[in-house]
Amino acid sequence: RKKVTIQRLHQLRASRTPITMLTAYDYPSARRAEGADIDICLVGDSLAQVALGYSSTTQLTLDEMLYHCRAVSRGAKTPLLVADMPFGTYQLGVRDALETAVRLVREGQMEAVKLEGNEEIIPHVQALTGFGIPVMGHIGLLPQRHASLSGYKVQGRSAQHALQILRSAQALQDAGAFSIVLEAIPAQLAAHITGQLQIPTIGIGAGKGCAGQVLVQDDAIGLWAGHKAKFVRRFAEVGKEAAIGVTGYARAVREGTFPRDGDEGYSMEEEEFERFL
Ligand code: KIV
Ligand code: NA
Repeated sequence: RKKVTIQRLHQLRASRTPITMLTAYDYPSARRAEGADIDICLVGDSLAQVALGYSSTTQLTLDEMLYHCRAVSRGAKTPLLVADMPFGTYQLGVRDALETAVRLVREGQMEAVKLEGNEEIIPHVQALTGFGIPVMGHIGLLPQRHASLSGYKVQGRSAQHALQILRSAQALQDAGAFSIVLEAIPAQLAAHITGQLQIPTIGIGAGKGCAGQVLVQDDAIGLWAGHKAKFVRRFAEVGKEAAIGVTGYARAVREGTFPRDGDEGYSMEEEEFERFL
C-alpha cells in the first residue's frame, strides 16, 4: 500500500470514501493501525490519561509526546502521521507554536500537527502552514479546556454556539488547515459543516456525516477500562482477554503448574549433571 498523503485524503473526500483515523501511542499500537490500513495515525494527547495515567491532557509534556511519537513512527509507515500539540506548547505565541511543531516533525518524525482552538489560534495555523507544516484543526469539545468548559460535554447545541463552531471551521480552512477534527457536536451540525468546507472533517462523537471518523484505539479495542464516552464503540474486548491472561499466569505460578517440565524449559544430559554435582 502507498503512503497516505494530504492529496490522498482529498481524493477520498471527493469520492465520498470515509477517512479512517485512529490513535496510536507506541510501536505495537502503531503496527495495528498500519495492519488495518488506517489512513491517519494520530499520536493524540489522550495518551496522557490512556498510556501515562495522568488525570488530564494538560499534564502531558512535549518531551513525553516526542518519546511516543518516535515509537509510533517506527511502527506506522503508511498512514499519515499526526501529533497533538500538547497543552502549553503553543499558547505563548506563534514562535512557541513553530518551535513545538518543528520539534514534532524533526525529532518526533511526525508529518503534521493538530491544535485545539478557534479564532485565537488562526495566527498560529497561518504561520505553521506558511512554513510548510500541515495543520489539522480541532473544534467542538476541546479536552485541553475541560476546566473552562466545566467538563467533557457536547458542544454547539444552541443556534448561536453552532454558528460559532461553523465560523471557526471556516476560519481554520482559510488559515490553511488541511483537515479539522469535530469533537462531540450534534450530528446535524457536523454534517452541515462538512458540506460547507472543502477540506475533510474527521468526527468523534459527531455523527456519520463527517468525511472521516477517529477514535482512541484503546477505546475501540476495549483495552481502556476508564470512563467510556457515549460515542465510543468497543469493537473488541482486549482488556478482558488481557486480564484473563495475567490472572491465569499468576494462578499457575502460585499453584506450581507453570512452568511444566520438558516443553516449557531446558534440560541437560543426566550424565553431565552427575559430573557437575
Ligand atoms: O487526543 C486524542 O486522542 C484526540 C482525538 C481522539 C481526536 O485528540
Ligand atoms: Na487530543
